[in-house]
Amino acid sequence: MSEQHPGLLDRPIYLDYNATTPIDPQVFAAMTPYLTVDFGNPSSSHVFGRSAHGAMDQARSAVAALIGAAASEIVFTGSGSEADALAIRGAVLGARAAGTDHPHVVTQVTEHPAVLAACRDLELLRDVAVTYLPVDGSGRVDPGAVESAITPDTVLVSIMHANNETGTTQAIADIAAVTRAHGILLHTDAAQSVGKITVDVDDLGVDLLTVVGHKMYAPKGVAALYVRTGVHLLPIVGGGGQEHGLRAGTENVAYAVGLGRAADLAGQALVDGTTARLAALRDLLEQQLRERLPGRVHLHGHPTERLPNTLNLGIDDVSALALLADLPEVAASAGSACHAGHDDPSPVLTAMGLPRQEALSAVRLSLGRWSTSREVDDAADAISTAVLRSPRT
Ligand SMILES: Cc1ncc(COP(=O)(O)O)c(C=O)c1O
Repeated sequence: MSEQHPGLLDRPIYLDYNATTPIDPQVFAAMTPYLTVDFGNPSSSHVFGRSAHGAMDQARSAVAALIGAAASEIVFTGSGSEADALAIRGAVLGARAAGTDHPHVVTQVTEHPAVLAACRDLELLRDVAVTYLPVDGSGRVDPGAVESAITPDTVLVSIMHANNETGTTQAIADIAAVTRAHGILLHTDAAQSVGKITVDVDDLGVDLLTVVGHKMYAPKGVAALYVRTGVHLLPIVGGGGQEHGLRAGTENVAYAVGLGRAADLAGQALVDGTTARLAALRDLLEQQLRERLPGRVHLHGHPTERLPNTLNLGIDDVSALALLADLPEVAASAGSACHAGHDDPSPVLTAMGLPRQEALSAVRLSLGRWSTSREVDDAADAISTAVLRSPRT
Protein backbone atom coordinates (compact mmCIF):
# COMPACT_ATOMS: atom_id res chain seq x y z
CA MET A 1 0.00 0.00 0.00
CA SER A 2 1.16 3.55 -0.74
CA GLU A 3 1.78 5.96 2.13
CA GLN A 4 -1.11 8.11 3.39
CA HIS A 5 -2.89 10.14 0.70
CA PRO A 6 -2.51 13.92 1.15
CA GLY A 7 -6.27 14.40 0.78
CA LEU A 8 -6.93 12.11 3.74
CA LEU A 9 -4.49 13.62 6.25
CA ASP A 10 -6.07 15.30 9.29
CA ARG A 11 -9.53 14.71 7.93
CA PRO A 12 -12.41 12.44 9.02
CA ILE A 13 -11.82 8.72 8.46
CA TYR A 14 -12.84 8.14 4.86
CA LEU A 15 -15.14 5.12 4.58
CA ASP A 16 -16.91 6.09 1.37
CA TYR A 17 -14.64 4.70 -1.36
CA ASN A 18 -17.69 3.38 -3.24
CA ALA A 19 -18.92 6.96 -3.65
CA THR A 20 -15.59 8.08 -5.05
CA THR A 21 -11.87 7.51 -4.51
CA PRO A 22 -9.08 10.05 -4.15
CA ILE A 23 -6.87 10.32 -7.23
CA ASP A 24 -3.75 8.24 -6.71
CA PRO A 25 -0.73 10.60 -6.79
CA GLN A 26 0.88 8.26 -9.37
CA VAL A 27 -2.19 8.71 -11.59
CA PHE A 28 -1.99 12.47 -11.22
CA ALA A 29 1.72 12.42 -12.07
CA ALA A 30 1.04 10.43 -15.26
CA MET A 31 -1.67 12.90 -16.31
CA THR A 32 0.24 16.12 -15.67
CA PRO A 33 2.24 16.29 -18.94
CA TYR A 34 -1.01 16.04 -20.91
CA LEU A 35 -2.46 19.01 -19.00
CA THR A 36 0.66 21.11 -19.52
CA VAL A 37 3.14 20.50 -22.33
CA ASP A 38 1.74 17.57 -24.31
CA PHE A 39 -1.38 19.31 -25.53
CA GLY A 40 -1.77 17.84 -29.02
CA ASN A 41 -4.98 16.64 -30.64
CA PRO A 42 -4.67 12.87 -31.23
CA SER A 43 -6.19 13.35 -34.71
CA SER A 44 -3.35 15.65 -35.86
CA SER A 45 -0.65 14.04 -37.95
CA HIS A 46 2.23 16.20 -36.67
CA VAL A 47 4.44 15.41 -33.72
CA PHE A 48 2.08 16.97 -31.15
CA GLY A 49 -0.79 14.85 -32.40
CA ARG A 50 1.29 11.70 -32.61
CA SER A 51 2.39 12.07 -29.01
CA ALA A 52 -1.23 12.42 -27.84
CA HIS A 53 -2.29 9.52 -30.06
CA GLY A 54 0.43 7.33 -28.61
CA ALA A 55 -0.68 8.20 -25.08
CA MET A 56 -4.28 7.26 -25.93
CA ASP A 57 -3.10 3.94 -27.38
CA GLN A 58 -1.12 3.15 -24.25
CA ALA A 59 -4.04 4.05 -21.98
CA ARG A 60 -6.44 1.93 -24.05
CA SER A 61 -4.09 -1.05 -23.82
CA ALA A 62 -3.79 -0.65 -20.04
CA VAL A 63 -7.56 -0.56 -19.49
CA ALA A 64 -7.96 -3.53 -21.83
CA ALA A 65 -5.27 -5.52 -20.00
CA LEU A 66 -7.01 -5.04 -16.65
CA ILE A 67 -10.21 -6.70 -17.90
CA GLY A 68 -8.77 -9.24 -20.34
CA ALA A 69 -9.89 -7.35 -23.47
CA ALA A 70 -8.16 -6.14 -26.65
CA ALA A 71 -7.26 -2.45 -26.88
CA SER A 72 -9.51 -2.10 -29.94
CA GLU A 73 -12.48 -3.07 -27.73
CA ILE A 74 -12.16 -0.08 -25.35
CA VAL A 75 -14.18 3.13 -25.87
CA PHE A 76 -13.38 6.04 -23.55
CA THR A 77 -16.37 8.05 -22.31
CA GLY A 78 -16.91 11.03 -20.03
CA SER A 79 -18.53 9.11 -17.15
CA GLY A 80 -19.84 5.76 -16.05
CA SER A 81 -23.35 7.03 -16.66
CA GLU A 82 -22.41 7.78 -20.26
CA ALA A 83 -20.81 4.34 -20.73
CA ASP A 84 -23.99 2.70 -19.39
CA ALA A 85 -26.14 4.82 -21.71
CA LEU A 86 -23.94 4.02 -24.71
CA ALA A 87 -24.15 0.30 -23.97
CA ILE A 88 -27.90 0.20 -23.46
CA ARG A 89 -29.18 2.80 -25.88
CA GLY A 90 -26.49 1.93 -28.42
CA ALA A 91 -27.34 -1.78 -28.37
CA VAL A 92 -31.09 -1.27 -28.56
CA LEU A 93 -30.99 1.34 -31.31
CA GLY A 94 -28.40 -0.74 -33.13
CA ALA A 95 -30.70 -3.77 -33.00
CA ARG A 96 -33.62 -1.69 -34.21
CA ALA A 97 -31.58 -0.31 -37.09
CA ALA A 98 -30.66 -3.91 -37.95
CA GLY A 99 -34.33 -4.89 -38.19
CA THR A 100 -35.67 -5.82 -34.73
CA ASP A 101 -38.94 -3.87 -34.74
CA HIS A 102 -39.88 -4.23 -31.05
CA PRO A 103 -36.62 -4.52 -29.10
CA HIS A 104 -36.91 -5.78 -25.54
CA VAL A 105 -34.38 -5.33 -22.68
CA VAL A 106 -34.06 -7.27 -19.44
CA THR A 107 -32.54 -5.55 -16.40
CA GLN A 108 -33.11 -5.64 -12.64
CA VAL A 109 -34.34 -3.33 -9.92
CA THR A 110 -31.15 -2.58 -7.94
CA GLU A 111 -29.18 -1.25 -10.92
CA HIS A 112 -27.46 2.12 -10.59
CA PRO A 113 -29.75 5.02 -11.60
CA ALA A 114 -27.61 5.45 -14.75
CA VAL A 115 -28.80 2.06 -16.05
CA LEU A 116 -32.37 2.52 -14.85
CA ALA A 117 -32.56 5.96 -16.50
CA ALA A 118 -31.17 4.63 -19.79
CA CYS A 119 -33.87 1.95 -19.73
CA ARG A 120 -36.66 4.39 -18.81
CA ASP A 121 -35.55 6.71 -21.64
CA LEU A 122 -35.82 3.83 -24.10
CA GLU A 123 -39.31 3.01 -22.85
CA LEU A 124 -40.34 6.50 -23.99
CA LEU A 125 -39.58 5.42 -27.55
CA ARG A 126 -42.34 3.63 -29.35
CA ASP A 127 -41.96 -0.15 -29.55
CA VAL A 128 -39.21 -0.60 -26.92
CA ALA A 129 -40.06 -2.66 -23.82
CA VAL A 130 -38.04 -3.27 -20.63
CA THR A 131 -38.46 -5.96 -17.96
CA TYR A 132 -37.17 -5.12 -14.46
CA LEU A 133 -36.43 -8.35 -12.60
CA PRO A 134 -36.69 -8.55 -8.80
CA VAL A 135 -33.83 -9.55 -6.47
CA ASP A 136 -33.82 -11.87 -3.47
CA GLY A 137 -33.15 -10.82 0.13
CA SER A 138 -29.39 -10.68 -0.48
CA GLY A 139 -29.78 -8.57 -3.62
CA ARG A 140 -29.15 -11.31 -6.18
CA VAL A 141 -31.00 -11.99 -9.42
CA ASP A 142 -31.90 -15.56 -10.29
CA PRO A 143 -30.30 -16.48 -13.65
CA GLY A 144 -33.38 -18.69 -14.19
CA ALA A 145 -35.56 -15.58 -13.94
CA VAL A 146 -33.41 -13.94 -16.64
CA GLU A 147 -34.05 -16.92 -18.89
CA SER A 148 -37.81 -16.81 -18.21
CA ALA A 149 -37.96 -13.09 -19.02
CA ILE A 150 -36.41 -13.56 -22.48
CA THR A 151 -38.79 -13.19 -25.42
CA PRO A 152 -38.12 -13.53 -29.15
CA ASP A 153 -37.65 -9.73 -29.17
CA THR A 154 -35.05 -9.56 -26.39
CA VAL A 155 -31.87 -7.94 -27.67
CA LEU A 156 -30.03 -7.03 -24.46
CA VAL A 157 -29.69 -8.08 -20.84
CA SER A 158 -28.07 -5.51 -18.52
CA ILE A 159 -27.23 -6.74 -15.02
CA MET A 160 -24.62 -5.02 -12.82
CA HIS A 161 -21.55 -6.91 -11.64
CA ALA A 162 -21.54 -5.49 -8.09
CA ASN A 163 -23.97 -3.24 -6.31
CA ASN A 164 -22.68 0.12 -5.11
CA GLU A 165 -24.65 0.09 -1.83
CA THR A 166 -24.37 -3.51 -0.65
CA GLY A 167 -21.44 -4.84 -2.69
CA THR A 168 -23.50 -7.89 -3.64
CA THR A 169 -22.15 -9.45 -6.82
CA GLN A 170 -24.35 -11.05 -9.45
CA ALA A 171 -23.82 -14.46 -11.06
CA ILE A 172 -22.77 -12.86 -14.34
CA ALA A 173 -21.12 -15.98 -15.82
CA ASP A 174 -24.33 -17.97 -15.23
CA ILE A 175 -26.41 -15.19 -16.77
CA ALA A 176 -23.98 -15.11 -19.72
CA ALA A 177 -24.59 -18.81 -20.30
CA VAL A 178 -28.28 -17.93 -20.72
CA THR A 179 -27.79 -14.90 -22.97
CA ARG A 180 -25.29 -16.74 -25.18
CA ALA A 181 -27.63 -19.69 -25.61
CA HIS A 182 -30.27 -17.23 -26.86
CA GLY A 183 -27.90 -15.06 -28.95
CA ILE A 184 -28.62 -11.97 -26.83
CA LEU A 185 -26.11 -9.28 -25.82
CA LEU A 186 -25.08 -9.02 -22.16
CA HIS A 187 -23.97 -5.74 -20.59
CA THR A 188 -22.62 -5.50 -17.06
CA ASP A 189 -21.97 -2.31 -15.12
CA ALA A 190 -18.70 -3.19 -13.41
CA ALA A 191 -18.11 0.32 -12.01
CA GLN A 192 -17.72 -1.04 -8.50
CA SER A 193 -15.95 -4.34 -9.13
CA VAL A 194 -13.11 -3.40 -11.49
CA GLY A 195 -9.95 -2.97 -9.40
CA LYS A 196 -11.47 -4.55 -6.27
CA ILE A 197 -11.74 -8.10 -7.60
CA THR A 198 -10.45 -9.77 -10.73
CA VAL A 199 -12.69 -8.91 -13.68
CA ASP A 200 -12.17 -10.72 -16.99
CA VAL A 201 -14.59 -10.20 -19.86
CA ASP A 202 -14.13 -13.73 -21.18
CA ASP A 203 -14.54 -15.42 -17.78
CA LEU A 204 -17.69 -13.35 -17.25
CA GLY A 205 -18.84 -13.95 -20.84
CA VAL A 206 -20.06 -10.38 -21.31
CA ASP A 207 -20.34 -8.38 -24.54
CA LEU A 208 -20.36 -4.91 -22.95
CA LEU A 209 -18.82 -3.81 -19.65
CA THR A 210 -18.63 -0.43 -17.92
CA VAL A 211 -15.42 0.68 -16.16
CA VAL A 212 -15.43 3.91 -14.09
CA GLY A 213 -12.34 5.99 -13.33
CA HIS A 214 -13.33 7.64 -10.07
CA LYS A 215 -14.05 4.31 -8.40
CA MET A 216 -10.46 3.19 -9.05
CA TYR A 217 -8.27 6.17 -8.13
CA ALA A 218 -8.51 8.02 -11.47
CA PRO A 219 -10.37 11.36 -11.71
CA LYS A 220 -14.12 11.83 -11.95
CA GLY A 221 -15.21 12.45 -15.54
CA VAL A 222 -13.55 9.53 -17.29
CA ALA A 223 -14.79 5.99 -17.87
CA ALA A 224 -14.68 3.30 -20.53
CA LEU A 225 -17.02 0.90 -22.22
CA TYR A 226 -15.73 -2.49 -23.30
CA VAL A 227 -17.40 -3.46 -26.59
CA ARG A 228 -16.71 -7.03 -27.68
CA THR A 229 -15.41 -7.28 -31.27
CA GLY A 230 -18.34 -7.76 -33.63
CA VAL A 231 -20.96 -6.16 -31.34
CA HIS A 232 -22.90 -3.48 -33.17
CA LEU A 233 -23.83 -0.28 -31.31
CA LEU A 234 -25.20 3.02 -32.56
CA PRO A 235 -23.31 6.01 -31.09
CA ILE A 236 -25.21 8.42 -28.85
CA VAL A 237 -22.93 11.31 -29.80
CA GLY A 238 -21.91 11.55 -33.45
CA GLY A 239 -19.37 13.82 -35.13
CA GLY A 240 -15.66 13.42 -35.75
CA GLY A 241 -15.55 9.64 -35.63
CA GLN A 242 -13.34 9.34 -32.54
CA GLU A 243 -13.38 6.21 -30.36
CA HIS A 244 -14.05 3.84 -33.28
CA GLY A 245 -16.98 6.06 -34.32
CA LEU A 246 -18.80 5.32 -31.05
CA ARG A 247 -18.14 8.50 -29.11
CA ALA A 248 -17.40 11.68 -30.99
CA GLY A 249 -15.50 14.54 -29.40
CA THR A 250 -11.82 15.41 -29.25
CA GLU A 251 -10.35 12.95 -26.78
CA ASN A 252 -9.73 13.94 -23.15
CA VAL A 253 -6.16 12.71 -23.40
CA ALA A 254 -5.04 13.55 -19.85
CA TYR A 255 -8.04 11.80 -18.29
CA ALA A 256 -7.71 8.74 -20.51
CA VAL A 257 -4.04 8.58 -19.51
CA GLY A 258 -5.16 8.81 -15.87
CA LEU A 259 -7.56 5.90 -16.32
CA GLY A 260 -4.83 3.90 -18.04
CA ARG A 261 -2.36 4.51 -15.20
CA ALA A 262 -5.09 3.69 -12.65
CA ALA A 263 -5.69 0.42 -14.50
CA ASP A 264 -1.97 -0.45 -14.31
CA LEU A 265 -1.97 0.26 -10.57
CA ALA A 266 -5.20 -1.68 -10.02
CA GLY A 267 -3.77 -4.69 -11.83
CA GLN A 268 -0.66 -4.52 -9.66
CA ALA A 269 -2.75 -4.15 -6.47
CA LEU A 270 -4.76 -7.24 -7.38
CA VAL A 271 -1.55 -9.22 -7.82
CA ASP A 272 -0.32 -7.85 -4.48
CA GLY A 273 -3.41 -9.11 -2.64
CA THR A 274 -5.63 -6.03 -2.36
CA THR A 275 -8.78 -8.19 -2.37
CA ALA A 276 -7.73 -10.15 0.72
CA ARG A 277 -6.41 -7.06 2.51
CA LEU A 278 -9.68 -5.18 2.02
CA ALA A 279 -11.78 -8.19 3.00
CA ALA A 280 -9.80 -8.58 6.24
CA LEU A 281 -10.29 -4.90 7.14
CA ARG A 282 -13.99 -5.03 6.26
CA ASP A 283 -14.52 -8.12 8.41
CA LEU A 284 -12.61 -6.53 11.28
CA LEU A 285 -14.88 -3.49 11.11
CA GLU A 286 -17.99 -5.66 11.15
CA GLN A 287 -16.68 -7.74 14.05
CA GLN A 288 -15.79 -4.68 16.11
CA LEU A 289 -19.18 -3.08 15.58
CA ARG A 290 -20.96 -6.33 16.50
CA GLU A 291 -18.90 -6.55 19.70
CA ARG A 292 -19.58 -2.94 20.67
CA LEU A 293 -23.29 -3.03 19.75
CA PRO A 294 -24.32 -6.57 20.66
CA GLY A 295 -27.44 -7.83 18.91
CA ARG A 296 -28.09 -4.51 17.16
CA VAL A 297 -26.06 -4.95 13.94
CA HIS A 298 -27.34 -6.71 10.78
CA LEU A 299 -25.54 -7.26 7.49
CA HIS A 300 -27.37 -6.24 4.31
CA GLY A 301 -26.23 -7.90 1.11
CA HIS A 302 -24.85 -11.32 0.36
CA PRO A 303 -22.59 -12.74 3.10
CA THR A 304 -20.00 -14.13 0.66
CA GLU A 305 -20.88 -13.09 -2.93
CA ARG A 306 -19.91 -9.53 -2.13
CA LEU A 307 -17.18 -6.97 -2.82
CA PRO A 308 -14.29 -7.27 -0.37
CA ASN A 309 -14.46 -3.59 0.64
CA THR A 310 -18.17 -3.05 1.24
CA LEU A 311 -20.10 -3.32 4.50
CA ASN A 312 -23.75 -2.31 4.55
CA LEU A 313 -25.01 -2.57 8.09
CA GLY A 314 -28.39 -1.95 9.64
CA ILE A 315 -28.15 -0.75 13.23
CA ASP A 316 -31.35 -1.33 15.22
CA ASP A 317 -33.28 1.75 16.36
CA VAL A 318 -31.00 4.23 14.60
CA SER A 319 -31.66 6.75 11.83
CA ALA A 320 -28.60 6.43 9.59
CA LEU A 321 -28.91 10.04 8.39
CA ALA A 322 -29.09 11.37 11.97
CA LEU A 323 -26.22 9.12 13.03
CA LEU A 324 -23.91 10.28 10.24
CA ALA A 325 -24.80 13.91 10.94
CA ASP A 326 -23.71 13.31 14.56
CA LEU A 327 -20.46 11.59 13.53
CA PRO A 328 -17.94 14.18 12.33
CA GLU A 329 -15.06 11.71 12.80
CA VAL A 330 -16.21 9.42 9.98
CA ALA A 331 -17.21 10.07 6.34
CA ALA A 332 -19.64 7.34 5.24
CA SER A 333 -22.97 7.04 3.40
CA ALA A 334 -26.54 6.23 4.25
CA GLY A 335 -28.38 4.58 1.38
CA SER A 336 -31.36 6.71 2.31
CA ALA A 337 -31.77 10.31 1.23
CA CYS A 338 -33.47 13.32 2.71
CA HIS A 339 -35.91 14.96 0.30
CA ALA A 340 -37.92 18.01 1.25
CA GLY A 341 -37.64 17.31 4.96
CA HIS A 342 -38.54 13.62 4.98
CA ASP A 343 -36.31 10.60 4.70
CA ASP A 344 -36.59 8.21 1.75
CA PRO A 345 -35.20 4.72 2.29
CA SER A 346 -32.73 3.26 -0.20
CA PRO A 347 -34.54 1.77 -3.23
CA VAL A 348 -31.84 -0.95 -3.28
CA LEU A 349 -32.60 -2.09 0.26
CA THR A 350 -36.36 -1.85 -0.15
CA ALA A 351 -36.09 -3.93 -3.35
CA MET A 352 -34.34 -6.55 -1.20
CA GLY A 353 -37.46 -6.67 0.96
CA LEU A 354 -36.32 -4.55 3.91
CA PRO A 355 -39.09 -2.70 5.74
CA ARG A 356 -38.82 1.10 5.58
CA GLN A 357 -37.58 1.51 9.15
CA GLU A 358 -34.82 -1.06 8.72
CA ALA A 359 -33.74 0.46 5.41
CA LEU A 360 -33.53 3.88 7.09
CA SER A 361 -31.13 2.44 9.67
CA ALA A 362 -28.54 1.27 7.11
CA VAL A 363 -25.04 2.71 6.88
CA ARG A 364 -22.71 1.94 3.99
CA LEU A 365 -19.06 1.69 4.95
CA SER A 366 -16.63 1.18 2.07
CA LEU A 367 -12.88 0.82 2.38
CA GLY A 368 -10.07 1.37 -0.09
CA ARG A 369 -6.41 1.81 -0.91
CA TRP A 370 -5.50 3.96 2.09
CA SER A 371 -7.69 2.29 4.71
CA THR A 372 -5.79 0.91 7.71
CA SER A 373 -6.58 -1.27 10.71
CA ARG A 374 -6.01 1.77 12.91
CA GLU A 375 -8.74 3.60 11.01
CA VAL A 376 -11.03 0.61 11.38
CA ASP A 377 -10.51 0.61 15.19
CA ASP A 378 -11.09 4.35 15.45
CA ALA A 379 -14.15 4.24 13.17
CA ALA A 380 -15.72 1.35 15.13
CA ASP A 381 -15.18 3.34 18.33
CA ALA A 382 -16.63 6.54 16.93
CA ILE A 383 -19.64 4.85 15.31
CA SER A 384 -20.56 2.79 18.37
CA THR A 385 -20.15 5.77 20.71
CA ALA A 386 -22.43 7.86 18.48
CA VAL A 387 -25.02 5.05 18.32
CA LEU A 388 -25.03 4.62 22.09
CA ARG A 389 -25.48 8.33 22.78
CA SER A 390 -28.26 8.82 20.20
CA PRO A 391 -31.90 8.36 21.26
CA ARG A 392 -33.44 5.13 19.94
CA THR A 393 -35.82 5.75 17.00
C1 LIG B 1 -22.55 0.94 -10.11
C2 LIG B 1 -22.33 2.30 -10.70
N1 LIG B 1 -22.61 2.51 -11.98
C3 LIG B 1 -22.45 3.71 -12.55
C4 LIG B 1 -21.98 4.79 -11.83
C5 LIG B 1 -21.91 6.13 -12.51
O1 LIG B 1 -20.62 6.57 -12.74
P1 LIG B 1 -20.37 8.14 -13.00
O2 LIG B 1 -20.50 8.81 -11.68
O3 LIG B 1 -18.99 8.22 -13.57
O4 LIG B 1 -21.40 8.59 -13.98
C6 LIG B 1 -21.65 4.62 -10.48
C7 LIG B 1 -21.16 5.75 -9.68
O5 LIG B 1 -21.70 6.08 -8.65
C8 LIG B 1 -21.85 3.34 -9.89
O6 LIG B 1 -21.58 3.11 -8.61
